[in-house]
Amino acid sequence: MKKKHFQRLIKDKLKGYHLFVLSNREPYIHNWNEDRIECIRPASGLTIALDPMMRACGGAWIAHGSGTADRDTVDNNQKVRVPPEDPQYDLKRVWLSKEEEEGYYYGFSNEALWPLCHIAYTRPVFRLSDWEYYKKVNYLFAEAILEEIGNERPLIFIQDYHFALLPRIIKERRPDALTVQFWHIPWPNPEAFRICPWKKELLEGLLGNNLLGFHIRYHCNNFIDTVDRELEARPDRERSSIVYKGKTTYVRHFPISIDFDAIDESTRKREVEEETKRLKTKYHLFDKIIGVGVDRLDYTKGIPEKFRAIDFFLDQNPEYKKRFVYIQLGAPSREHIPSYKQINDEIDESVERINWKHRTEHWSPILFLREHIPFLSMLAFYKMSNFCMVSSLHDGMNLVAKEYIAAKTDSDGVLILSRFTGASRELNEALLVNPYAADEFAQTIKEAIEMTPEEVSRRMKKLREIVRERNIYRWANQILTKAIQIS
Ligand code: G6P
Repeated sequence: MKKKHFQRLIKDKLKGYHLFVLSNREPYIHNWNEDRIECIRPASGLTIALDPMMRACGGAWIAHGSGTADRDTVDNNQKVRVPPEDPQYDLKRVWLSKEEEEGYYYGFSNEALWPLCHIAYTRPVFRLSDWEYYKKVNYLFAEAILEEIGNERPLIFIQDYHFALLPRIIKERRPDALTVQFWHIPWPNPEAFRICPWKKELLEGLLGNNLLGFHIRYHCNNFIDTVDRELEARPDRERSSIVYKGKTTYVRHFPISIDFDAIDESTRKREVEEETKRLKTKYHLFDKIIGVGVDRLDYTKGIPEKFRAIDFFLDQNPEYKKRFVYIQLGAPSREHIPSYKQINDEIDESVERINWKHRTEHWSPILFLREHIPFLSMLAFYKMSNFCMVSSLHDGMNLVAKEYIAAKTDSDGVLILSRFTGASRELNEALLVNPYAADEFAQTIKEAIEMTPEEVSRRMKKLREIVRERNIYRWANQILTKAIQIS
């Protein structure tokens, strides 16, 4: 679906509604850099996906103000117009104390709910004090929204696991609000979810929504099964809905996507070509077979598993030594949390070990860049690569896979994609792997490298057709249309 088409359609459909988007992470962060303020875009698939929708629809986005210069850039209503270069919607910032951020964000959201929903064998930590902060911050955000709501009927589009309690809180105060929530991460099966001490409150909170979205049908089914097990509710599997205390919540899947055309266009710019040359020179990449990976440094992403596969690949195919380089871009994330410190140490250790084992005087197989990479450089890395590896151990969708496809304007790259991502359900022409199976993974790297250019192009063209059509505008149109239809 084209952006213009979406804009026309949605203006009509949203008549009489005022759109509010709510997420923890903000789409634009202002930071002090010495005595200058700079604006960055965070490494968050969620914010990158929703920003084009907001640009097209207008409205207000409410999020935690986490940048060091965020307070210096808002007006008296805590708002700033974004994107900075071409303002199109309001970003309203909510401020959290250090204790609130610690308990609600690092604690309950990311040490309890994140590992609870991702089956990656990291144990959730449930602390009563974190839970108390989680509740408090959900109320705080509800207040921030309620302040904004005028006479028009609000359509409140809540994002992710940080706000499971919020829909119910809003509904109690504004029963006329249409509340929609999209859960960007997997929903586990009832067996996994039942260990959460506050499972009933979470489920009751989520059932305050008129519509609850997941990426894939499997997560919808898991959610319905979980409610069926934990609450006195009436699930209707035929209609994919749940009636609880007389109110209906529809549960539907909407696979999220990206702004294909915007990435495609940006990649064709001369600046990206120039950046490609600059990076190739800087890292001695001319005449190399290049693999690339872009991830937040998170234990669900399977980064050590990629390195293990590279190690196996080089053991089994020593003829590729000196001819092959794998570039891993890693954005630091949630570094405060012990399990994230551990994964960072594990990554450092394995890069060092594998590079030491295979290195020659002027060559090492893995180039690991732990930094927040500017968008332009990321496109340049995609452009120069022969293949991309997405190896999540579990992932709701994974938008890197789709970004890579959009950036491959010459259809000259192979996507290696974990079977445990939501994206693998749509992207059949990728080479699907089980990242836990190092042998199979190593074999897939070889297959990607040795694939004929015709086959590479055939597969990538098909993938590009899929993502071009199933883009973020189609996603937004489907979810908002459904919301209005059931209201
Ligand atoms: C995942 C979550 C998002 C989150 C992103 C980045 O994609 O679903 O809600 O924004 O990770 O994580 P962070 O904690 O830095 O916002």
